[in-house]
Formats: sequence, C-alpha cells, structure tokens
Amino acid sequence: MINALKQLERDAQAEAAALSDRSALEDLKVKYLGRKGLFASVSAKISELSPEEKRLAGQEMNRVKQLLETLFSSKEGSFQSSGDDSVRKIDPTMPGTFRAPGNLHPLTQVMSDVVDIFERLGFCLVDGPEVETERYNFEALNIPLNHPARDSFDTFYLDNGKLLRSQTSTVQIRVMEKMKPPFKIIAPGKVFRPDATDATHSFMFHQIEGLMVDEGVSFADLKGVLFAFAKEFFGPKTKVRFCPHFFPFTEPSADIDIWSEQRQSWLEILGAGLVHPNVLEAVKIDPERYTGFAFGMGVERLAMLRYGVEDIRQFFENDVRFLRQF
Ligand code: DAH
Repeated sequence: MINALKQLERDAQAEAAALSDRSALEDLKVKYLGRKGLFASVSAKISELSPEEKRLAGQEMNRVKQLLETLFSSKEGSFQSSGDDSVRKIDPTMPGTFRAPGNLHPLTQVMSDVVDIFERLGFCLVDGPEVETERYNFEALNIPLNHPARDSFDTFYLDNGKLLRSQTSTVQIRVMEKMKPPFKIIAPGKVFRPDATDATHSFMFHQIEGLMVDEGVSFADLKGVLFAFAKEFFGPKTKVRFCPHFFPFTEPSADIDIWSEQRQSWLEILGAGLVHPNVLEAVKIDPERYTGFAFGMGVERLAMLRYGVEDIRQFFENDVRFLRQF
C-alpha cells in the first residue's frame, strides 16, 4: 500500500506539471482527491493491514494527502497570477457591453437650436440669475407696484425680499445696465409662476429672451428677424402673423402666431415689441437716440409644437420611455 501511495504521488506530480489550464486542474483534483478518487481507493486498503502496518500506512497517507493538497493549491495560484485566458474566460468574439449613449433633453435641444439660429443672425448668448429683485422683474420693466400687469407676471417670493424671476425679460435690464448700445443678445432660462399645474401650465418653464438696441432699430427689423427665425425653426413654408397685444415693457407690442397645419389653427409662440422708452430711461439709455426691439418665447410651447407633445408635464416627469424618443 505504501508503494501504491508513492506511485500515486509521482503520477499526480507528473500530471500536475503537464497541466495547461484551470479546468483541467479541477478534473485532476477530482481524479486524485475526490470521494471516489485514486487516493480514496488506495487508502481503503488500509483495513486489510495488520495494526503495525496500519500505523506506517496511516502516516504515509497523511503525508501524501497533504502533499497533494499543497500541490494542487500552488498550481491554482500559478494560474491566477499568470492571468491565463481560461481563468478570465474571455471570448474576444462576443459582442461588447452596450452602453446607451443617452441624448439631450428635448427642451435642451430646442433651446440650443433656437440659440444657434439667433447666433447666426449675430445675437450673442447671455445668462441671468433665477433669483431676482423686484426691480429687475417689475419696476425697471415699467411694471410699477400696484400696476394691474403685475398679476400676469406674479411669482414666488423669498423670505429675503427677493423673488424667482417670472420672465427672462429681467436679463434685458441686466444687459442694458452693463453694455453700451449697439448690442443684440439672446438669453434662455427658467422662469417661475404660481400657476396650478395642468396640461398647459407648469410652475416652472423656460423662456428665451431676445433684445436688440441700436440707432434706428424699427418694427421692420423685429419682423425681419422673427420671420427669419420662424422659417428656419419650423420650415420655409411657415406662415407667421403679428397680432396687437399689450406688454408694459414694449410699445407697440405684438403676439406672434404661427399656423399649425396639423391643428388647423394659429398658435401663439412669443410676445414682442419695441422697447418702451421708460425701460431705456430706467437703464440710462437715451430713448431719443436709441431704439430697440425685444421678444420672449416659450420653449415648452415650441417643443410641444415641434414634437406634437400634448401635455407639458411630460417634459418634467423624467420618464425615460418618453425622453428616449427625442
Ligand atoms: N416676458 C413676456 C412674458 O413672460 C414675454 C415678452 C413679451 C418678452 C414681449 C419680451 C417682449 O421681451 O418684448 O410673457
């Protein structure tokens, strides 16, 4: 029996040395140390031995078993550290892990398309704060305290006396305070109003403000720029109409509608007008020398028209099944 164990030891060493991968090592372990393996079947013979032989054979069994275990585990370690391909199980012909690249939010896409068009017309992109003072949201825009127009631009008030801007027209004032005419700017951003949420209202939405001030700017310039924009954004056959309207910060003022073939109706997309002399005076620009036009458009409105979205809430719910479509 002792000879049989020694033979088993030699065989195992030879076979282990010839191993090429980890799964063969597993097979080898089973072959030698498994419940029905070679070691077990050789060791079973111990019952046929005399007590004295049993003692020697038992010692030999322990030695060989330990040796086999060390042999196999050191072999396993060598596979791990050599980074054998069969260990990492790489199949280079398998397709790789797919990571969806993602896409811009539809409102971001609309804003950047609009900004692109106006940049090509020479407008320069500017930004303004969402937390504002009454002066920028109302007074400087010719909406004095107690003026009824405050209602339509009502907003959320903060404890510190500031407020969330209810229109991007605030940026007009910020720009005119800092820059000397002539200038042409475009300012996209969030605005806030305490409206109850429904399919067409949200307490937060986006606007894009435009402003041009120079000597001799007229209503014809406003029309030219807005027609060019509408045809670029909605397509060359787009029909545009100007309807008289009132805004405190422009005079005259207009609402601009585009014709929707799909709905067979006119839809308002923006408000506009010639900058009111009171607004120019509030920022110390001489209204006798300079004139300007301004406009403000609703981004959600543009996006709903472009993509046929019926409910404004879908833009804000962050449901990827909706967002993935754009
Ligand atoms: N601020 C207006 C609104 O929130 C939109 C607007 C109208 C902006 C006329 C303008 C403008 O710059 O000239 O409804």
